[in-house]
Formats: sequence, structure tokens, C-alpha cells
Amino acid sequence: MSVTTNKKRRLITSALPYANGHIHLGHIAGAYLPADIYVRYLRSVGENVVWVCGSDEHGAAITLRAKKDKTTPQEIVDKYHVEMQEAFSGLDISFDHYSRTSSARHHKVAQDFFLKLLENGSFEVKTEEQYYDTEEDQFLADRYITGTCPKCEAENAYGDQCEKCGSTLSPTELINPKSTLSGSEPVLKPTTLWYLPMGRHEDWLKDYIEKGELDGAQHHDAKAWKSHVIGQCKSWIDGGLQSRAMTRDLKWGVPVPVEGAEGKVLYVWLDAPIGYITSTMEWAEKNGEDWRDWWQNPDTELLHFIGKDNIVFHCIIFPILLKEHGDYILPHQVPANEFMNLEGDKISTSRNWAVWVKEYCGENPDGSDVMRYVLASIMPEQRDSEFTWTDFRDRVNNELADVLGNFVNRVLVLTRKYYEGVVPNAPSDDALSKVDKKVLASLTEAPGKIADLIERHRYREAQLEAMNVARLGNKYLTEEEPWKLMKTDPARVETIMQIASQVVGNLGVLLEPFLPRTAEKISKAMGIAEKKWTDASTGIVAGGTKLGELPILFAKIDDEFLEEQVAKLGNNSSNTNPNIMPQKDPTTFDNFTQMDLRVATVTECVPVKKADKLLQLTLDTGLDVRTVVSGIAEHFKPEDVIGRRVVLLANLEPRKIRGVESQGMVLMATNADGGLRFITPEEGVNPGDVIS
Ligand code: 2FM
Ligand code: ZN
Repeated sequence: MSVTTNKKRRLITSALPYANGHIHLGHIAGAYLPADIYVRYLRSVGENVVWVCGSDEHGAAITLRAKKDKTTPQEIVDKYHVEMQEAFSGLDISFDHYSRTSSARHHKVAQDFFLKLLENGSFEVKTEEQYYDTEEDQFLADRYITGTCPKCEAENAYGDQCEKCGSTLSPTELINPKSTLSGSEPVLKPTTLWYLPMGRHEDWLKDYIEKGELDGAQHHDAKAWKSHVIGQCKSWIDGGLQSRAMTRDLKWGVPVPVEGAEGKVLYVWLDAPIGYITSTMEWAEKNGEDWRDWWQNPDTELLHFIGKDNIVFHCIIFPILLKEHGDYILPHQVPANEFMNLEGDKISTSRNWAVWVKEYCGENPDGSDVMRYVLASIMPEQRDSEFTWTDFRDRVNNELADVLGNFVNRVLVLTRKYYEGVVPNAPSDDALSKVDKKVLASLTEAPGKIADLIERHRYREAQLEAMNVARLGNKYLTEEEPWKLMKTDPARVETIMQIASQVVGNLGVLLEPFLPRTAEKISKAMGIAEKKWTDASTGIVAGGTKLGELPILFAKIDDEFLEEQVAKLGNNSSNTNPNIMPQKDPTTFDNFTQMDLRVATVTECVPVKKADKLLQLTLDTGLDVRTVVSGIAEHFKPEDVIGRRVVLLANLEPRKIRGVESQGMVLMATNADGGLRFITPEEGVNPGDVIS
């Protein structure tokens, strides 16, 4: 049970992910890892913090998915509510509570909120003509309707937004509207909607966003908000806030709790942020707390971690709803992140251009920290960023393995070698050299520096500072060369190893928000029981401490791993409809004719040394005899391959794979369950024959 203290409370939320698909790395880098770093740090300093999240289980995202998979919305959300949590825990995302919006409890909380707004006169009720799909018997709003954007003429703009130009739209503005459910042309039909007149709120919102003022008092430091967040809000407000309907004529959602409103549900963007409140209530109940302290006490700071596509909802619409209700505090900070791209392209679920967290963690059960590290290094804090597997490998190999892992390992190995694993006693001050003092001074400064960066939501720099502690230690050992002094000056070696142990011990604390598993291993080995931020000091490891075991912290990433990861992109391995491989983006006829596809015969085949997945093939191509390396060793034995006729992409640029030059690529068919098959030409097709 947690104890309520007088300390400032911080309530942290991360965007409730739609329970309609898997979690990918873009989600993690946007709204979950930054919050996790922040919250872990706050816990470490002993702050009064609660972090809530949950599944967003309503809205078109869910129902369209259910329709596509020929199942019910409930089945979709039940499946992904579980799967998303597995993905989060795979990367050690440590929510205090994870809820869901299809629960009866949440329905009641959202309905009560709506009724309070109704009582307060917050809505305008309008009966108007809305598009209706007669085949599906459903009104069409938001993602249920597409058409040409009236602003930029892009096709396939949605009923609520054009993704091309970013304009907010209403369905009736679309040119040539079409139902996404049936593809038919919709008709107009009258219905009643509850609108939130947002125009009324422009004045106070401007002060709240631009100056951090609320009700004439200072509410938060507006300068601490990210400029892209303020910029987006300003342009919304300056463009004039339009009324927005807070109800929809749909079956799936929170029913509108008003007589005569059968067949109507709350707009998903009204119900979802209220999910933060429901989640807090559930957490409070479990922990003997009063949820009102966290939502209705002005001493609490509310922070929303989100991606940039959610800014308007968290900085404009939700604050309006909270203010209209009257009992709630407003967000103190919204450290929205921009987007992370992947291998030169936008992350796309439909094209399977994504790294799926569940799959990554399943294949790499110890891969959480390295992924967290890379994502924090390239977090899209101020602008869009880019994840590539090459960069992943370089950061893991050159930074985590070569610097952090190497340093920690050297300290442990040398301490074992020289002192049977017992840390030497601290030297007296006059035994310290200038360099020693510099290292100790840097250690003293590090916790404050990192803390300041985390408090300002600069996680990339914060992690860099924490890693600089390892860099400092590595450099210190390399330059002081205790191994050379052991015979001549053992007292000096004791000092060096004592100080080096302090550096390692501090890493056990300072890395915890970023690399929780590594920090745990280090702390354990260094005899640090509780990893509290305030314990980071130049005396964190007492002389006489017997060091524990520590396995190698980071294995190096090889090219094979890299190639496997890249090869998954765009194919169907994680697609939610595993039977059909989605079609790739269009290519030109010229691109196609540039490819020289030939029939070839495999004359020899041997395994590639130290590579479980590769076979080295010798091919008779009719043109020449050449070598090709192919990643098929897990599917075929060399003897099964010799003598086969295969299809070869002959003019692929030669590449060295595991030291062997591969001169082309053998084409394989991948079936729905990931099995590989050769594409065997029929009789009479011979080496050298051209495929076109
Ligand atoms: O954009 C999304 O994925 C939404 N499901 C986020 C909701 S955040 C909050 F309001 F619940
Ligand atoms: Zn547009």
C-alpha cells in the first residue's frame, strides 16, 4: 500500500493505445518510453507519482478492424488488450495501472462526466443532416467516410481529417463522399448531435497555452512546454475553434445517457481521455488512495505523454471538457513527441512497415534494455527521427558493449583478479591525484545533471549524460592502466580500483530509468540493495564489499541479425491478417526490367562458418559459375539443395556476407506460416534462361 505524503503529487498519463492492433516501436518512442524514464526517475527520488494508462477500446479504429477480420469489436479489444500489455511488459514499461475503456466502470464514469457537462450547459444540441449508409444501416462520421479533401484535393481524406494537409474536416465538406464500410455513396438523413462549442473557450485557452495562466493565476511555466506543442495549439486557436460533436450515431461505444438517445454513443475522443480518470480510480481503490487527490487537488501536476497527432485532443479539447466540468485540474505539461520513422519511410501498420514489439521481445527475451537504449537515443523529442537497424547495431556494439559493458566488466574482472572480488578501502584525500579528483567531482555532479534533463523532458541528453559516466570510467581505467602498476605501486592500484568501483556503483543507480535490467544487474553485483537516486555518491560502494557475479552485459549484434530484421519489413510476418501478404507499393515497369532474373542450377552447397542461418551456394547460371549466400540454412540441408534449379536475381550488386562475396540472390517463396520454398522452373527450362 502506498502512503499519501505531503509531497507534490504527479499524475502521469500515456495515450491510451487503440486496441485494434499490435504495439510497434513508434508507439514506444512516442508516448511510453519517455514516460517510463520520467516515472522511474521520480520513483527513484521518492516523489509521489502515479502513472496510468489503458486500452482505448472504442471508435472507428476498433469497429473497422472487427469488420475486416469478420469478428466483433469485443473480440478485437479482448485480444489486443492482452497482447498490448504483453508488448509493454516486454520492454519493461512500468505503468502503475493499465485499464480499459470497454469496462462497465469506465462507461459509468464517462456517462457521469457527460451528464455533468449537460447539467452545466456545456453542449449545444442540434438536429442536422448527416451522411448515412443505407446498405450498412449506419450514420457515417470520422473514419467511416472518405472523399476528396475540399482544401487540398487529396483523395481519401477522412470525415474528420485530411491526413495529407492536416485540415480538420466534417463529413459534409468532403467532395464525392464514399462509405468506408460498403463503398457506397451515402445519403443525407437528419439526426441529433450534442456539440461542444469550443469557440467560447478561445480566450482563456490562449492564456493557458501561451502564458501558462489559468483563471488569472500562473498555472504552469509555458516556456517549459515544447515549441512544437505550443505552435500546433496556437495555430488551432488562431484558426478559430469550431464546435465539435461529442456524440456519434453508432452501436459500439459508451451509450449517451439521455432518454431518447438510443443508438447514440459518446465521441471516442470524449470517452478516451476520461479513461485516464477511470484508470486512476481503479489504481486508487487498489492502493487505499482517494482518486480525487490526483484529479481534483490543485497541488497535483497532471502530465500527458502523447504523440504529436494527439496534441489537439490533450491541449485543447480535453482541457475544455475538464474546465466545463468544473471539478478537475488541467494538464500541467504535455511533453508530446514527434514521429519516429523506420528505415527511410513512415511507420505503416497496413504495409507492415513496422517493428512489432511483441515479436521483437519474443525473439529477443533479453533485448529490452538495448532497444530502450536505442529508442531513447533517437527519441523524436523536438523533430521527427529515424530508426534504422544499422544504427541499432552501431549503438549496441559501439556504445553499450564497447563502453558500458566493457568498463563494468573490466572493473569486476580486475577486482576479482587483484583482491578476490573485494572492493579496496577508500583512499585518504591526500592519496588522490588530480585525475582522481576530477572523476570524483564528475560523479558528484552527474545525478543532478541527469535529473535536471529528465525534469525538462530531455531524455536523449539525459541518457547521454548517464552514459558519459560510463565513458568517464572507461577512459579513467584506460589512462590509469592499473594492470601496469600492480607490481610497482599496488597502493595506487587500490585507489584506482576503489574509484572505478564507485563509478560502476553509480551506474547501477543512474542507468535505472533508461536500462532497468542492466542497472539491476550492476547494483546487485556491486552490493547496492536499493537503487535510490539520492544514494548516488562517491561512496556508494563501501570498501570491503564482496562483488557478486555479473554476466556479460551486452552481446554484440552481427550482420545476420541485421539482415533478418530488415528482411521482415514490408512482409507479412506480423500482419494481423496472416493469410494474405499485402501488396507492396507500386513500382515502375523500368524498375522491373532492370532486374535480370535467370534460371540457374545449384552445383555445390556448404554451410557458412559461424552463421547458423546461411548456406553458400555455387550456381551454374549459364553465363558463369558463381557464389551466392542465402539465408535458408534453417529450412534446408546442403544436400537437399544441390542439383536444384532455382530462380536467381543475377544483377543484384555483389555484397560481402560473413566474409563471402554473394553475387546475386536466390528467390524463394514465403508461405503464410513463414515457411520457405524454392521456385522450381518446369522441365525444359535451363540455366541461363531469362525470366521476364
Ligand atoms: O491516437 C490514439 O491511439 C488514441 N487511442 C489515443 C487516445 S489518448 C487518450 F485520450 F485516451
Ligand atoms: Zn487536404
